Amino acid sequence: MGNVDLNAKIPNNVNLKDDRRLQRALESWQPNYIDWWKSMGPEGFQADEIYLRTAVDVGRDGWAHFEHVKMPEYRWGIFLTPRDDDRVIPCGDHAGMEAWQQVPGEYRNMLRRIIVTQADTEPASVEQQRLLGQTAPSQYDLRNLFQVNVEEGRHLWAMVYLLHTYFGRDGREEAEDLLRRRSGDPDSPRILGTFNEPIEDWLSFFMFTTFTDRDGKFQLLSLTESAFDPCSRTCRFMLTEEAHHMFVGETGVGRTIQRTCEVMNELGTTDPEAIRKHGAIDLPTIQRYINRWFSSSVNLFGGERSSNAAMYFAAGLKGRYKEERYEDHVALEGIYNLPLPQNGGMTNEEVPLRNAMNEVLRDGYVGDCKFVCDRWNRVLEKAGREERVYLPNRRFNRDIGVYSGVHFDTDGNRITQEEWDAKRDGWLPNETDKAFVKSLMKPSLGVGQIASWIAPPRTGINKNAFEWEYVRFDKSSVGVSLGAKPSLTG
Ligand SMILES: [Fe+2]
Ligand SMILES: [Fe+2]
Repeated sequence: MGNVDLNAKIPNNVNLKDDRRLQRALESWQPNYIDWWKSMGPEGFQADEIYLRTAVDVGRDGWAHFEHVKMPEYRWGIFLTPRDDDRVIPCGDHAGMEAWQQVPGEYRNMLRRIIVTQADTEPASVEQQRLLGQTAPSQYDLRNLFQVNVEEGRHLWAMVYLLHTYFGRDGREEAEDLLRRRSGDPDSPRILGTFNEPIEDWLSFFMFTTFTDRDGKFQLLSLTESAFDPCSRTCRFMLTEEAHHMFVGETGVGRTIQRTCEVMNELGTTDPEAIRKHGAIDLPTIQRYINRWFSSSVNLFGGERSSNAAMYFAAGLKGRYKEERYEDHVALEGIYNLPLPQNGGMTNEEVPLRNAMNEVLRDGYVGDCKFVCDRWNRVLEKAGREERVYLPNRRFNRDIGVYSGVHFDTDGNRITQEEWDAKRDGWLPNETDKAFVKSLMKPSLGVGQIASWIAPPRTGINKNAFEWEYVRFDKSSVGVSLGAKPSLTG
C-alpha cells in the first residue's frame, strides 16, 4: 500500500503510477466523469467556491483539510484503507482462510453484480439532488449538500477503481454504463427503485440522508466483511465519508423538529394549520415523511428469504453487520423466525439462517434507525414537548419482499385494502403536505440567513460559526440571482 499521491491527475493511495495500463484506463474515464458531473451534478453552482472537505490521507488526520473549491475542480481520488497482510476471510464457506487479493473466477459475475449495484446508487443520488441547491435553507446547508454530492462522486470513483482493476473489459463497460444510466429515466433508470424517486424538497433530502444513506452504511458494512480484500478496504474508507451524510440528515430533521417546537411553544398550539401559517412544518407532516422514506429505504435490503443472499454469504462476498460479534461464522445451522402473511393473517416461517441474511442485516438497520428516532425525540423533550415521533414497523408500505402486495399499519398489523385506502393519506405525505412543504422551499443564501422552517445548527463546519461565508458566489452564479451577494473576496 503506497502513500497518498495527491499531485497525480487522479489522487490515490494505490500506486496508480506503477500500473500504466490501469492509470490510462482511469484517466480516459475521468473526462467522461467530469462531463457527467457538469451536466448531472448540482445545477447552477459549478462556478462558485464551496468550503469543502477533501480526503488527503487515509489516516485519522486525513480529514482535516478544508478549503474553498469549485466543485468541478474537486480532487476526486481513489483511497483504500491500508492493507492488513494477516487478514483472513471473516465468514462463509472459506472462513478463516487468507483473504483474496484477486477475484476467484467462479465468483466473478456475482461480485461484479454486487459492486455495480452499489456503484449505481452513488451517481444516482447526485442526480436526485441536483436541483436542491436552488432552494437551500442556508449557506451552511448548501455547503453540506455539496459535500455529500462530491463524496457520492468519490464513492463512484472508488467502485469504478474496483471495476477497472479487477474485472477487465467487462468492468470498463460497466464503468461507462454507470455514467449512462439516469435517475428516473424511464428508458435507462438507475438499478434500485428508491434511487429513481426525485428528491424535490429539503425535508425529503434530510430524510433521504438519514434513512437511505444509512442503508448505504449497512451495505458497506456487509461489504467490509468481504473475502475480496480490495472490496473490503474500499468500503471501509467509504464508511468514514458516509458518517457525515447521515449527520447531515439526522441533524437536518432534528433542526426542523426544533423549529417546529419553537413555533408550537410560541403559539401555544399544536394545530397544524397554525404552525404552517407560521412557516414551520407541523409534526404530523414530519412523521409522514419519516414513514415514507424509512419504508422506501427498508426495501433496499431486498427479499426476506433470499437465495442470492445465501450465495453471497456462502461465497464470503458479504458478511453480517459486525460479523465479529457472532461466534458461528459459517451459519449453516440456525434458523430465522420470519413472520409471514398467510391468508388474511400471519404465520411464522423458519428460514435457514443463510437465506435470511438480508433480514439479519435489516435488523441492524432498523435498530440503528430507532436510535436516530430516540435522538429526535430528545429534541422534543428538551423543548418541553410531550409529542414524539416514531419509526413505523418494517412491514409498513413495502413494495419489495414478503410484505409487499398486502397491507400493514404503522404498528405492523395486517389491514385490509379498504383500511389502507382510508388511512393512507394520514400515514404518508399526501398532496396537500407535498404542496405545503414545496411552498416553503425558498432560497435563503445570504451569510447567516436561515429559512423559516428550520433552526440553525448549534455549530458550523470545522469550528466556523453558522454565520460564515461557506460559499463564495461567483457574480454569474444562480445563487446570486436567487438573492445571495457575490463574494467581495472571490
Ligand atoms: Fe455513497
Ligand atoms: Fe452517502
